[in-house]
Amino acid sequence: MKIFLDTANIDDIKRANEILNIDGVTTNPTIIMKSGRSQKEVVQEIAALVPGPVSVEGIGETAAEMVKEGTDFAKWAKNIVVKLPMTKEGLKAVRQLEKKGIKTNVTLVFSASQALLAAKAGASYVSPFIGRLDDISEDGMLLIHQIMEIFCAYGFKTEVIVASVRNPLHVVESARLGAHIATIPPDVFEKLLRHPLTDKGIAQFKEDYAKSKK
Ligand code: E4P
Repeated sequence: MKIFLDTANIDDIKRANEILNIDGVTTNPTIIMKSGRSQKEVVQEIAALVPGPVSVEGIGETAAEMVKEGTDFAKWAKNIVVKLPMTKEGLKAVRQLEKKGIKTNVTLVFSASQALLAAKAGASYVSPFIGRLDDISEDGMLLIHQIMEIFCAYGFKTEVIVASVRNPLHVVESARLGAHIATIPPDVFEKLLRHPLTDKGIAQFKEDYAKSKK
C-alpha cells in the first residue's frame, strides 16, 4: 500500500520522509489555509520534496472553471494531480483533464455509487472520506470494502486513496482490504510507529544492560 501524507506542513513531510519515502501528498483548501502560505508556493515546495503525486484542489464550480484551474495547477510541477469534487461538473472536468493527460483525484466521495461513476469517468484516483462517515455514525470502512470489491471485480485502473483517516486502525484495515493508498495526517503517521510495549521493552533492555555492566 502506498502512503501519502495529508498535509501541507513542510517540516512534517521532511520528518516522515526521513523514515520512509512518502509516496505522495494530498492537500485541500483547509490544509492549505492551515499552512498559512500561498497555495502555489507551498504546493511547488511539496512537489519538489516528494516525487510522487501531489493533489491540489481548486474552488471552481463549473466544469469549465475546474478545467481552467486544473490546467493551471498542472503547470506548477510535473507531479500535480488535480482534485475535483464528486459532482456532475466535477466528473465532466475529470474527462476533459484526463484527455489532456492531466491526472485527477475525485474527492468528497461518500458512497460506492459515486466511486463507481468516478472510475467510469476515468479518474486516476478516488478519495472516499472514511473519518467523516464515522463521525456521523456511518461505517467508513464498509465503504472501502464495497469500493475495493467493485474495482477488483471489474479491474478498474482508478486507485483508491483512503482519505479522512483519523487513527492507525483506519490504515491497517485499509491495507487489509487492499486499498491502493492511505493518505495520513502527520499525527496518525506518528501513532502508526508507536507501541507502549516497544517503549517498555527498550527501557527494560537499557536497564538490564546497565546492570550487566556492573
Ligand atoms: C484528503 O484528500 C482529504 O481532503 C482529507 O483527508 C480530509 O480529511 P478530514 O475529513 O480530516 O478533513
